Formats: sequence, C-alpha cells, structure tokens
Amino acid sequence: MTNDTALTVQQTARPHGFPTPDHFAFVESPLPEPAPGTALVENLYWSVDPYHRELMDDVPGGFALDAPLEGRAIGRVVESREPALKEGELVFHRQGWRTHAVVAPDEVRRLPRFDGVPLSAYLSVLGGTGLTAYVGLTRIARLREGEDLFVSAAAGGVGTATARFARLLGAGRIVGSAGSAAKVAHLTAEVGYDAAFDYHDGPVAEQLAKAAPDGFDVFLDNVGGEHLGAGISALRERGRVVRVGTVSQYNDPAAPPVRFNHADIVEKSLRLEGFLVRDYRDLQDELYAFVVPHLQSGRVGLDETVTVGFDGIVRAFLGMLHGANVGKTIVRASGAI
Ligand SMILES: NC(=O)c1ccc[n+]([C@@H]2O[C@H](COP(=O)([O-])OP(=O)(O)OC[C@H]3O[C@@H](n4cnc5c(N)ncnc54)[C@H](OP(=O)(O)O)[C@@H]3O)[C@@H](O)[C@H]2O)c1
Repeated sequence: MTNDTALTVQQTARPHGFPTPDHFAFVESPLPEPAPGTALVENLYWSVDPYHRELMDDVPGGFALDAPLEGRAIGRVVESREPALKEGELVFHRQGWRTHAVVAPDEVRRLPRFDGVPLSAYLSVLGGTGLTAYVGLTRIARLREGEDLFVSAAAGGVGTATARFARLLGAGRIVGSAGSAAKVAHLTAEVGYDAAFDYHDGPVAEQLAKAAPDGFDVFLDNVGGEHLGAGISALRERGRVVRVGTVSQYNDPAAPPVRFNHADIVEKSLRLEGFLVRDYRDLQDELYAFVVPHLQSGRVGLDETVTVGFDGIVRAFLGMLHGANVGKTIVRASGAI
C-alpha cells in the first residue's frame, strides 16, 4: 500500500459457524476523491463488534458480499471540499473496516475533547459499548442503590462497563461470568466484581448458586442460552432481566432453545426486556456527563484490548468472537496516538 492507495475489508463468503480469515479479503484501491460537499477521512481507530458477526449472515441489512463493510470508526479529515468539515478535525462515523472514508457532514459526529481522555475511549466506554451498559442499567433495569447484579460476558466491553457504572450507581453485590480463569481473576482484582466464575467449569446454574447464593435483583445478559435460563431461575422477586445480546448463539445457528420455568416470570413478578442502543443516541451527552469526570479522576479505568495496525482488524474481530479480548476490542492505526 502506498500513500495514494486505500484498503477496505470485504466479506467474500457466508460462514456456517465461526468465521475464519478466509471469509474476508483486504482490497486495495486508489485513494477516494472527495466530491463537493464531502471530505476525505483517514481512519485512526476502528471498533469491531459481535453484531458484525450477525451481519455476516444472509439477513436483512446484513453485509453485502465483496463490498466494503460498515463499522464504527474515528478518523481525521485530511482533505475537505465541505466548509463544515475542517481539515485536521476528528470525527466519528460508520464507514469502518477501511483505511479511508469519504463522508458528508450528516454522516459524522464531531468528538468533544475531554482533557486526559484518550481517543479510543470514544469507541469503548464513551461509545456504543458504554452507552449500552448505561442504558441497560439506568433505563431498562432502572437499577436502585444497593441492588445486586449478575452480568454475563462480564469481561467483555459491555460487561466491564456495566460493572464500573453499576458501582458508580451504588449497586450492591456484583457477580460476573466469563470464559477463562484469567478473566475471572481480572474481574475481581481490577474491574470491581465481587465474585466471578468461568462458565466452562460446570453448569452455569450451579456456579451461579455458589457465587450468588442469595440471588440478585438485576441480570444484565449478554450471552443468552444456558446463562439466560440460569439467571431467570436465580432472580429475586421483582427482578429484571436486561437482554443485551445473545453472543452464545451468533456462531451456533443450531443452539437449542433456552429452557427456564416460565411460571417464574409470574410468580416472582419478573420483567424481561431487551433494547437496541441505537434507539438511545439522545443519551450520549448524559453518558459523557456521567463517566468523563470519573475517567479523568482515574476512578473508572479503561477496559480495552487494542490491536495495532489496520492489517490486524480481521484477527482482532475473530479473536473477540473466540473470547481473546478483555474489555472493548479496538484496532488502532499504526502511528496513531
Ligand atoms: N443491544 C444492543 O444494542 C447491543 C449493543 C452492543 C453490544 N450488544 C451485545 O452485547 C454483548 C457483548 O458485546 P461486546 O461488544 O461487549 O462484546 P464482548 O463481550 O467484548 O466480546 C464478546 C465476548 O463474548 C464472549 N463469548 C463468546 N462466545 C461465548 C459463548 N458461547 N458463551 C458465553 N460467552 C461467549 C467472549 O468472552 P468469554 O471469554 O467470556 O467467552 C467474548 O469476549 C453481545 O451479545 C453483543 O451483541 C448489544
């Protein structure tokens, strides 16, 4: 690749089960030229997310084959033919999985700069990942002070943000499940979980009974499947299940339906509610106000797994699907700070 060329990542085939590098191609092309009313952005940070796996399937709104993929990215305007987009400006946009993007003003969000907050945070705790945790706790669960919480995929982007935010909101005991002993240790030592377990070590219901013997009030579920059934069983009266994602099924189309006692929903007066973060974009400034002072004071740490170099983007994505990440999975351009 030279200074006059750009790279895009394209999906070349539909996976059955876990995708592999063979489902992607890096495609080189001349640097795109901005038309009047647009600007050329050089991307600096990319977000790769579990929903990209869902879009790899032949579903409405899914990725087209042999075409550039979409994803959240942060870049710098390097050439502008639009007065509203100044050269040098940093913008957030959705033309990820590529080194360069041509954007119009209504396709970008300008990033406010907060002292001491690194750019990657705008894709992790201040981005869609943090907003998902914030909406789940404040709008769906409506977590009250002192309430106990269980979080599945606790060591991921949403899972780590959930525990850190729940602590700020005055949660009681916070229990998490994750996919390795190292993650379990990290959750209690660094992220603020009171207890955690590795879901590979035995049935989730049994491990949950040990980690949370008195149950909990809120279950923020990123995983579905066995976790969902076990979580519903262990909830207290008037408990809430916040359905955030179903990552245990994205690579397993034959996953069996979730089994749980349906009477629990009535007899314990439970509420089960899902949501999509894209419907809560109006809370972005509220999220900044809630988190930024704690990022600046160091009370909230950043949970990110950063891959350096655009050529590592497919590897980072596939690694995340297999649980290689702790915190949000981010790719940083070589040379970006
Ligand atoms: N509703 C929304 O608008 C919204 C927005 C953002 C994200 N989400 C959802 O939130 C969830 C977490 O997203 P994220 O971006 O924070 O990703 P993430 O948790 O950082 O990464 C995915 C994690 O899933 C875990 N995992 C993979 N296969 C699993 C399985 N079979 N059983 C249990 N865990 C498994 C892996 O960790 P382990 O090592 O622990 O297995 C992996 O690290 C996903 O379900 C995603 O789709 C929803």
